[in-house]
Amino acid sequence: MSRRYTILGLVGDGIAGEIVPEAMKVLRAVEEAYDLNIEVLGPYDFGAKYWVDHDMKQGWDPAVTEELFREVDAIFKGPVGLPDLLRRLPGPNLPINMRMDLDLYANIRPCRLRPGVDSVLVGRKPGDIDYIVLRENSEHMYVGIGGYLSRGGVTELAIDDYVQTRKGCERIIRKAFEMAKTGEYKGRAGAPLDGKRRVTCTAKWGICKGDGLFKDIYHEVAKDYPEIEQDTTWIDSWSYYAIMRPNFYDIAVMPNQYGDIMSDMSGAIQGSMGLAGSLNAGEDHCFAEPTHGSAPDIAGRMISNPTSMILSVGMMLNWMGDKHDDRRLKEAWRGIDSAVDRTLGAKKVRTPDLKGKNSTSEFGSAVAGEVRKGG
Ligand code: IPM
Ligand code: MG
Repeated sequence: MSRRYTILGLVGDGIAGEIVPEAMKVLRAVEEAYDLNIEVLGPYDFGAKYWVDHDMKQGWDPAVTEELFREVDAIFKGPVGLPDLLRRLPGPNLPINMRMDLDLYANIRPCRLRPGVDSVLVGRKPGDIDYIVLRENSEHMYVGIGGYLSRGGVTELAIDDYVQTRKGCERIIRKAFEMAKTGEYKGRAGAPLDGKRRVTCTAKWGICKGDGLFKDIYHEVAKDYPEIEQDTTWIDSWSYYAIMRPNFYDIAVMPNQYGDIMSDMSGAIQGSMGLAGSLNAGEDHCFAEPTHGSAPDIAGRMISNPTSMILSVGMMLNWMGDKHDDRRLKEAWRGIDSAVDRTLGAKKVRTPDLKGKNSTSEFGSAVAGEVRKGG
């Protein structure tokens, strides 16, 4: 048996209450199948609704402290935030606060067209699309520097400062090249079109100064990786090319806000937002959460697709495997990844976003069953 790991689980809002239990099912299956020893704290109730239900006195369950975020080996959480509460509560900013506090500078958001899934892009087959949006996660428009100018009780001006630093650019771009080397979190290393390992740098240099710095540092870092192909495209062009020739891309690295937007677009490209897993990763900490939000429009009907949550938890295990040099955790991630592929590929159990009739929990159980079977 491997060493004991402690993971903190947080539930969140909307569909979080449906998809987090399915990720737990898969985590338990993988624990058994790979002889892991994982203690899960919670999953605790967390997020905007919790805030309101508790009179906004207490942000979350008192058992969930910021110290605990740092003490555990990793965290997974369902999406948080509800539209009506967005302006009133700090809750919806929670993922951003956690990213900053734990210095989780890399947001890894794979876009892979999996077996049995139709892309919205006509004619694209599984295996044709397999790239990663590597979103810088600690700078740009989301640092919260700025403010309002109010005169006579009227808000007349709002400013957000866009911040890009050498340190921030350097570390995310280096990570992009390292990820191109290993093929981590992808079906296979390289771009589907030609098998080439390629790092695409995309932003809006020439217009935004921070993006100019981002590109300059990209060229500096690229010198250390002569074996990896370089590719630079403005972010507006990239949104076009990602749709026209998604098979050309391997790792696409971009500043924070562009990554936020492009990862939702990539949700559509890979067939459903419900398939979009993601990992917020730093050197010492990580937390896993789906790319999508809490989807209040479909919450409560058990029709949500838990794959995004399941894959995010799998990515978290892989990150822990790297950190602790624990092969079993890395195998567990591959076990989850391929169990998802087999379940989707069999086309027997599918949620409505993929034109199926099964519930969230039927799909989660099917993936857990595949994990137990192995393969
Ligand atoms: C995401 C989300 C978050 C973000 C929100 C909920 C703050 O959209 O993780 O992509 O913008 O980063
Ligand atoms: Mg987003």
